Amino acid sequence: MVDLRHKPVVEGEKVILRPFEEKDIPYIMECLEDPEVLKLTGSTSELDKEATLKWYRTRNDQTDRLDLAIVDKAQNHLVGEAVVNLYDEEANSMNFRILIGPKGRDRGLGTEATRLIVDYIFDNTDLDQLTLSVYAFNPRARKVYEKIGFVFESIDENDLEYEGEGIDSINMVLKREDWRNKKEHR
Ligand SMILES: CC(C)(COP(=O)(O)OP(=O)(O)OC[C@H]1O[C@@H](n2cnc3c(N)ncnc32)[C@H](O)[C@@H]1OP(=O)(O)O)[C@@H](O)C(=O)NCCC(=O)NCCS
Repeated sequence: MVDLRHKPVVEGEKVILRPFEEKDIPYIMECLEDPEVLKLTGSTSELDKEATLKWYRTRNDQTDRLDLAIVDKAQNHLVGEAVVNLYDEEANSMNFRILIGPKGRDRGLGTEATRLIVDYIFDNTDLDQLTLSVYAFNPRARKVYEKIGFVFESIDENDLEYEGEGIDSINMVLKREDWRNKKEHR
């Protein structure tokens, strides 16, 4: 088990990653209700507002995962979230996911936020690797993950049904050694 009870504040040039605060609630709701976020994260059910409120009010109490708000420094409010969860003991690995709402996309924030949380995790745990999954119809997210150093690992065919079509899910991995090499060449 990885001890992630400490929730850090990590500052970059464009974004700050920090623990969730009560004032984030309307902003995170806006992100979660955005049609593009719903499509690209494969969300199918209606957002349960009560459950969502409870979820974000309890993220800072979690000891086995890290959920951080992505704050756009230019707007000074939350534009998304970055999450490291699902510890896999056998591979000494955890999963990464990210989402950014309509007010934050396509300005480099996702790339920086990914780099910051990945660096934080490898610097502060002994995990051997991080994994993630991305749908084949999301080339932007794939591009971001490849820039950080994630590489193709496997594919789950027809993992999602979207508008009558089967969408593949691509599994990617970033091993500690590859992260270290990449970091040295930044
Ligand atoms: C995926 C996501 C985190 C990326 O964050 P972002 O801030 O929008 O992305 P950035 O601006 O940092 O970088 C996007 C990169 O993809 C590239 N890109 C954009 N559209 C693209 C496309 N259709 N095909 C290929 N590359 C694309 C951009 O050129 C940029 O690369 P560059 O910096 O080398 O020019 C964000 O868009 C998001 O959360 N989207 C909605 C939900 C989602 O997809 N979550 C991920 C689920 S796996």
